[in-house]
Amino acid sequence: MGWVTVADRVNIGLVCLFMMLWSVSGIGVNWGTQASHPLPPDTMVRLLRDNGFQRVKLFDADYDTLKTLGKTGIEVMVGIPNDMLAIVGGSMKAAEKWVAKNVTQHITSNNVNIRYVAVGNEPFLETYNGSYLGITFPALRNIQLALVKAGHNNQVKVTVPLNADVYESTNGSPSGGDFRADIHDIMLTIVNFLSLSSAPFTVNIYPFISLYSDPNFPVEYAFFDGNASPVSDGGTLYYNMFDANLDTLAHALQKNGFADLPIIVGEIGWPTDGDRNANTEYARRFNQGFMSHISGGRGTPMRPGPIDAYLFSLIDEDSKSIAPGNFERHWGIFTFDGQAKYPLNLGTTNSGALISAKGVQYLERKWCVMKPSVRLDDPQVEPSVSFACGLADCTCLGYGTSCGNLDAWGNISYAFNSYFQKNNQREDACKFPNVSMITKADPSPRDGNCKFNIMIQPYYGSAGWYARKPLGLTSVLLIFSLVL
Ligand SMILES: *[C@@H]1O[C@H](CO)[C@@H](O)[C@H](O)[C@H]1NC(C)=O
Ligand SMILES: *[C@@H]1O[C@H](CO)[C@@H](O)[C@H](O)[C@H]1NC(C)=O
Ligand SMILES: *[C@@H]1O[C@H](CO)[C@@H](O)[C@H](O)[C@H]1NC(C)=O
Ligand SMILES: *[C@@H]1O[C@H](CO)[C@@H](O)[C@H](O)[C@H]1NC(C)=O
Repeated sequence: MGWVTVADRVNIGLVCLFMMLWSVSGIGVNWGTQASHPLPPDTMVRLLRDNGFQRVKLFDADYDTLKTLGKTGIEVMVGIPNDMLAIVGGSMKAAEKWVAKNVTQHITSNNVNIRYVAVGNEPFLETYNGSYLGITFPALRNIQLALVKAGHNNQVKVTVPLNADVYESTNGSPSGGDFRADIHDIMLTIVNFLSLSSAPFTVNIYPFISLYSDPNFPVEYAFFDGNASPVSDGGTLYYNMFDANLDTLAHALQKNGFADLPIIVGEIGWPTDGDRNANTEYARRFNQGFMSHISGGRGTPMRPGPIDAYLFSLIDEDSKSIAPGNFERHWGIFTFDGQAKYPLNLGTTNSGALISAKGVQYLERKWCVMKPSVRLDDPQVEPSVSFACGLADCTCLGYGTSCGNLDAWGNISYAFNSYFQKNNQREDACKFPNVSMITKADPSPRDGNCKFNIMIQPYYGSAGWYARKPLGLTSVLLIFSLVL
């Protein structure tokens, strides 16, 4: 006779089910703002709600953004950018001010459901040359102390979103996972502090980057369809890179005495343009595969159970640095103007489809193109294209990208138009010396995915409106009459 009765089993089942529902409520998403024309916060919050996102991760603590998230119930991770780490890490007063202004005020006055503070963003990336190594932990500690002092420590947890290269495997398998040798001590200091603060480890995992940086990477292993030949780790089979990567971290934590530290996947996604492997088909396959993979709450061999994850990203950001690659500006599941890029069932809407942004305000339907009469070898053409591409966005023109098949006229026109739209269709932004003209005929090719965009209306923010928008004659006269 076993010691568990049927009734007990039902109860255990219910408890497990409850814990699953309690510990993870749906899927989260990243909301980045490195865009020349960000959508207004109310449009973005509506987009989040319409698509049933219950959690959002921010990279800073913009006042309007947070205020707009108030009363929505959406769980918010606010961020401290890397360039503020030295300030909050160097002074307890600065950390307390940051918490008062960017956490307390929003919780108490604006009813924002802040749950995490992300201290820095991938501060240990090798490209930063160790600039943030010394100040990340002091910043984490000061912010945690400030949260405790302000009485938020039960609701708001600290964390540090880290790149997956902070750990590695000594034997090529997850079981060989440990923290990178050059930052081992600092990682243990951070992990120990997170553990003492009942706070999670946050990691960003990118199978796309593995494929991008290693041409021999087995493509199928990046996806979740089970078509890859599994990799055996002492008998444990891994069918996809995500599981293997997460478990490498789980092993690293276990090896160092933190087997139970919760893990959050801070960023996961696939870009749709800017590289031959970045397209809507692969992005859909990856993101849908990931949603199905986590929806059953199965987890990974080392971490069975629900996975807490934030998709990267909600929308495209056209001002991101392309140092890592041209794909950087194309991570959105929605375009820069909030339109769904491909079918994706997040399991959060009644229709099972993504719902595009509502009420988006566009500029006029007009484009800047190369004059058809101009010769391709006109000496003004090349410098004009370099200028336009340098300041606008030509990441859709390379090999294997959405506009990679344009002819030379299309290519040049694409660059001109990008610059023109980014500059709000100002007349002088289509005055490449004698070689450009404005047209009302859409130059986008009829077949394929290449699109010559029309920009959206600029949004200046509630506080910056009068400061940044040039005053029209009526406003000047109005202000003048008020002064009198
Ligand atoms: C609050 O966050 C914003 C946005 O990240 C930042 O500019 C500001 O300096 C922070 N406030 C304080 C008092 O640190
Ligand atoms: C890191 O070092 C390299 C080479 O010394 C340099 O080119 C790069 O600008 C540095 N990056 C940062 C963020 O300091
Ligand atoms: C179009 O532009 C891209 C990127 O600037 C370049 O690599 C490509 O060769 C150009 N194609 C044509 C047909 O000019
Ligand atoms: C533009 O064309 C006009 C007339 O053909 C010519 O006089 C002028 O020098 C050209 N400007 C430039 C910058 O090439």
